Amino acid sequence: MLLDLTILPGDGIGPEVTAQAVEVLRAVADAHGHALKLQTKKIGGAALEAVNDPLPTDTIEACVSSSAVLLGAVGSPAFDHNPGHLRPEAGLLRIRRELGAFANLRPAVLFPALEDCSPLRPEIARGTDILIVRELLGGAYFGEPRSIEGPTGSRVATNTMRYSEAEIQRIARVAFDLAMKRKKNVLSVDKANVLECSRLWREVVTRTSKDYPQITLAHQYVDSAAMSLVQHPAQFDVVLTENMFGDILSDQAGGVVGSLGLLASASIGGPVGLYEPVHGSAPNIAGKGIANPLGAILSVALLLRHSFSLAAEAAAVETAVASVLQQGVRTADIAGHGQISVSTEEMGTRVVDSLRKRVRSTVA
Ligand code: IPM
Ligand code: MG
Repeated sequence: MLLDLTILPGDGIGPEVTAQAVEVLRAVADAHGHALKLQTKKIGGAALEAVNDPLPTDTIEACVSSSAVLLGAVGSPAFDHNPGHLRPEAGLLRIRRELGAFANLRPAVLFPALEDCSPLRPEIARGTDILIVRELLGGAYFGEPRSIEGPTGSRVATNTMRYSEAEIQRIARVAFDLAMKRKKNVLSVDKANVLECSRLWREVVTRTSKDYPQITLAHQYVDSAAMSLVQHPAQFDVVLTENMFGDILSDQAGGVVGSLGLLASASIGGPVGLYEPVHGSAPNIAGKGIANPLGAILSVALLLRHSFSLAAEAAAVETAVASVLQQGVRTADIAGHGQISVSTEEMGTRVVDSLRKRVRSTVA
């Protein structure tokens, strides 16, 4: 198969983790006889620096004409004072929209080898295997009107949280379909006691669930869900929620499983899937070579699975990651007391080695 991809390394630690993810991609393609065609383009702060546009036209063109997009991270404090449309994040939000990627899948799995990494007691964190299904193109992120208006001192800021029935229904279907391949439990998270958006959300999700009689659907307010997520994370299966709640809960889930650096994501639903680690650009550690590349590497697994239906290849990447963790290989964010931590590059190399070794042993 030809894997025709656009790579968007982006900002901060994005290029460092993406480089390792691409190494893993090469190794897995090589081992399974797939051809790679990669083109690298700019997004975010990197693109602002180059052409004063967080999402240049040639980046969009490359993305829409490839089969999938692998992204590192977007965001840089250098542009904190820019107007909204000239911030790095505007590039990320726009590429999600251009690709029609309304469904953001964020798995949070506690690797058995990392039970001691969770800030929660091992008996609480053990068995955590959550899939957050975050709506990605609606809500306050994209709602109009949005503005800051008036003279300094008496300015007023406005954002609009907005959801249509069609938007809610399509993301609910994604969550239910995925839950059918898991434990068949969906928790829909909202704030229906306060927000109209959430009341419509709850109604449409409930109605849509009627097409899935085998699914057990529950609803929970977001504040309460945040508490449950640290009290009994192992009881969660699929979490279905709107854009901003999903943003917040997915970082929290990263904390539960030991590090945000481990979390991968897939943004699907449109013609071209977008794959990115959940962590941001982490400017404080950028360039130091210590970032955890596993979120980016696991995003490669999601890419193989969701954009190319290459289940065995995806599993090979995930198995390689689990195996290096089992061997005790740790980047700084997941190193325990007295454990030596390896660099971003070393972690990537170890995953590649593990992949290759496994392929050799199956061939032999
Ligand atoms: C994420 C990030 C982005 C988001 C930012 C960088 C715009 O936090 O992917 O979770 O809020 O969606
Ligand atoms: Mg976020």
